[in-house]
Amino acid sequence: MFTLDEGFADRVFAYCRERLALDPVPLDFGSVRGLSPRHLDGFITTDGRSPDDVLEMFIRELAEHVISTDSSKFLAFIPNAPTKASLLFDMVVACSGLNGTSWLESAGAVVAENHTLEFLARTAGMPAGSGGAFVSGGTIANLSALTVARDIGAARHPEIDRHRLCVAVSEESHSSVGAALHILGLEAFVVPTSDHRLTRADLVAAMSGNPQAANIIAVVATAGTTNAGIIDDLEGLGEFARSQGLWFHIDGAYGGAGILSDRLAPRLTGIRHADSFVIDPHKWLFAPLDCAGLLYREPHLARAVHTQHAGYLDVLHAAPDTPEWNPSDYAIHLSRRPRGLALWFSLATHGTTAYARAIDAGLDLAQYAADAIHRCSATKLLRVPELTNVLFTRHGWTTEDYQRWSTSLLERQIAFVAPSVWEGEPCGRLSFLHPDVPLSVIDNIVATLTEPEF
Ligand SMILES: Cc1ncc(COP(=O)(O)O)c(C=O)c1O
Repeated sequence: MFTLDEGFADRVFAYCRERLALDPVPLDFGSVRGLSPRHLDGFITTDGRSPDDVLEMFIRELAEHVISTDSSKFLAFIPNAPTKASLLFDMVVACSGLNGTSWLESAGAVVAENHTLEFLARTAGMPAGSGGAFVSGGTIANLSALTVARDIGAARHPEIDRHRLCVAVSEESHSSVGAALHILGLEAFVVPTSDHRLTRADLVAAMSGNPQAANIIAVVATAGTTNAGIIDDLEGLGEFARSQGLWFHIDGAYGGAGILSDRLAPRLTGIRHADSFVIDPHKWLFAPLDCAGLLYREPHLARAVHTQHAGYLDVLHAAPDTPEWNPSDYAIHLSRRPRGLALWFSLATHGTTAYARAIDAGLDLAQYAADAIHRCSATKLLRVPELTNVLFTRHGWTTEDYQRWSTSLLERQIAFVAPSVWEGEPCGRLSFLHPDVPLSVIDNIVATLTEPEF
């Protein structure tokens, strides 16, 4: 098991090479072609099989049931669009079996991850000394950050009943924020907004005269809401939160990448106020799954909350005079792969100008799609896109119609799109991140919206 079969390694590398060279990358089918959940029954045996047979099973029978994240036709949810460099370097991380848990084990990997995190913090306007770790996704990043917010809030406000601590959020906050509050035993103080964008004025109005407001210990703002791509009033909310001694968390899992774009950065300056900030490279920074950056303004606060203690781990923390930085100390995790390295490699390879251009390309594609939908007689554009998500309705369609349309587009390999809901009504939604979506793909999608069979 621990001896390399050179011939088989060559065949795996050949497959990787072939996969990486696909142009265009085929969308593939996910579950629409039907895959039995029992497809692999009996496949793992006591004596094993030839590795070629197992590889063949993956290539011939499984791979096409996975929609390609690197296809430019992936326009559902918030897509991923990993660069070739990031995919290649992820392979290096895998083949080297790299660990990213602690300074003791992995200083070389931690240096590269922290260099990348520092770059992101600096670009976002966070103060020198900000830092954190890469975690598996925005969900764990939000949970980890809000755990620190809870403990710091409880310590700063001993007068508040620990079971009554509240966090101010908006209705557009990501579902993972609600899940985190539930896990952490925190209550959501949901601030009504006039147009889905959370502002300082909304927060102040909601708190005024509301006795629950006295229990608020943190404010969550979103830099790019998931459904419509709205950037909250980060400056106003941040200034207010700081003036009130409240923890200010910014969920920029999706839109945080805008810090690299001259077109978006002016709307993200409020990140300088953040106590914690989340940015998902596996979304708009073109890294492979799974990779979210979690940054704290004062990392020592997170370290006090998240460091795990056990006799066998003492050695990791035994050297106070070294520059030790254990990524495991800054989130809810211990053993981890250095998932930030794929981003580090790609960023260092391509440079930030290429990233800014790729981010801006997503903005342009969304605008092109919005214009096409606006012109189409069968559809109505629901909002002018702020980022790269385009919401629209097709006159007369029900939830089932959007679902049939989505399935049909995938079956015909036109695109992968997923329906959504806006203001209680079903709608269509296109989400652009891959910078090379051909305009013909958008034209084809819009053309299907007038097809008589729907
Ligand atoms: C704003 C926002 N926050 C958090 C998340 C959750 O991120 P992940 O899927 O990486 O856990 C998402 C996912 O789309 C998001 O858009």
